[in-house]
Amino acid sequence: MELMTTYKSNNYPIIIKNNAITELTELLKPYRDVVFIVDKNVEFALPEKIQQALSSTSSEQFTHILKVEGNETTKTFAVYQHIIEELLEQSITRNTCIIAIGGGVTGDFAGFVAATILRGVDFIQVPTTILAHDSSVGGKVGINTPQGKNLVGAFYRPTAVLYDLDFLNTLPYTEISSGYAEVYKHALLNGEEAQLEIETAFPDKKALESLVSLDKFLLKGIQTKLNIVIEDEHEQGKRKFLNLGHTFGHAIEYNQKIPHGHAVMIGILYQFMVANELLNTQFDIMHYINYFKNLDYPLEKVLDTNFEPLLALMSKDKKNDKSGIQMVLLKEIGKPKVIHVNNEVLEKSFATLQNYLK
Ligand SMILES: NC(=O)c1ccc[n+]([C@@H]2O[C@H](COP(=O)([O-])OP(=O)(O)OC[C@H]3O[C@@H](n4cnc5c(N)ncnc54)[C@H](O)[C@@H]3O)[C@@H](O)[C@H]2O)c1
Repeated sequence: MELMTTYKSNNYPIIIKNNAITELTELLKPYRDVVFIVDKNVEFALPEKIQQALSSTSSEQFTHILKVEGNETTKTFAVYQHIIEELLEQSITRNTCIIAIGGGVTGDFAGFVAATILRGVDFIQVPTTILAHDSSVGGKVGINTPQGKNLVGAFYRPTAVLYDLDFLNTLPYTEISSGYAEVYKHALLNGEEAQLEIETAFPDKKALESLVSLDKFLLKGIQTKLNIVIEDEHEQGKRKFLNLGHTFGHAIEYNQKIPHGHAVMIGILYQFMVANELLNTQFDIMHYINYFKNLDYPLEKVLDTNFEPLLALMSKDKKNDKSGIQMVLLKEIGKPKVIHVNNEVLEKSFATLQNYLK
């Protein structure tokens, strides 16, 4: 399956299939330098796939292989500086292509290196997690700072995305469920029918763990994201809808050190609470709690923290002020809206959510 973005220019293909990595041979032909930035865990889990990727360069090309940890410690200034200096030591030229092989961490990080080194070189995303169906598309790249996640970065489109589905088979369940949160978010943005379809396909952990028919939903997720980012690449308007679940999600991710997608799913739940409080929606909170519990999301993390540190983190997240924060709320399934929510409503919704979960 191949999609092509439809920007006015600089479009890129998104190839989603088993063994998509074979496409590298053709894509890498124009470059003098080829830099592989590889997640160590992916190499450990699938050494033969990494070998396959490395063998797609020719003997005339300069191949550089850099390995990174597949966790947030990679998205730091220290690792960024180290990798940039290492590549400059190796005298790479502007005729370089950087290939990110890993999950969202590796893609965000390698993309930021590509966006900034020598004022920008090409890069190809080879996402290896479910979550990265989201992060590899749309061109947001970046690193974290002690003040919060993704606060330093760029909008920088890849040259291609090769979503090789073979990689997904070695994901542990935690990473499957983490990635599923973004797939589910895309379904919620699409509407009630999409929600029903995905909940029916994956009613519980056993169904999700099997990955059966997940590719269909990955494709839908990518299409949903593309439809939004092509219209609003720099997040002036509707791209903000993709932050559904992320304002509270980023805060609890940072505060409780849980996987990104688990935090996003908790953020989606919290968003339903806030919507019921502020917009008089009547979302059935117990439906979502039961569904997320069936899929084994760590909802109990909401009980392990107080509201204040979360509010402090949420206040740092993008365009907020002292009286409250901007967050995406669903007016109904498929109908997102960006709304300024004041601190009282935020706190009350948090307390109500804790009561539901006790
Ligand atoms: N740029 C964007 O638009 C965007 C969107 C959403 C999320 N993100 C970012 O993505 C990151 C999260 O991505 P992620 O969940 O993929 O995290 P990740 O890259 O840390 O991968 C999760 C874990 O799975 C391991 N792993 C990766 N592929 C594997 C495989 N095939 N088999 C076995 N293990 C494998 C990794 O080593 C890591 O331990 C966050 O930093 C988040 O901020 C970015």
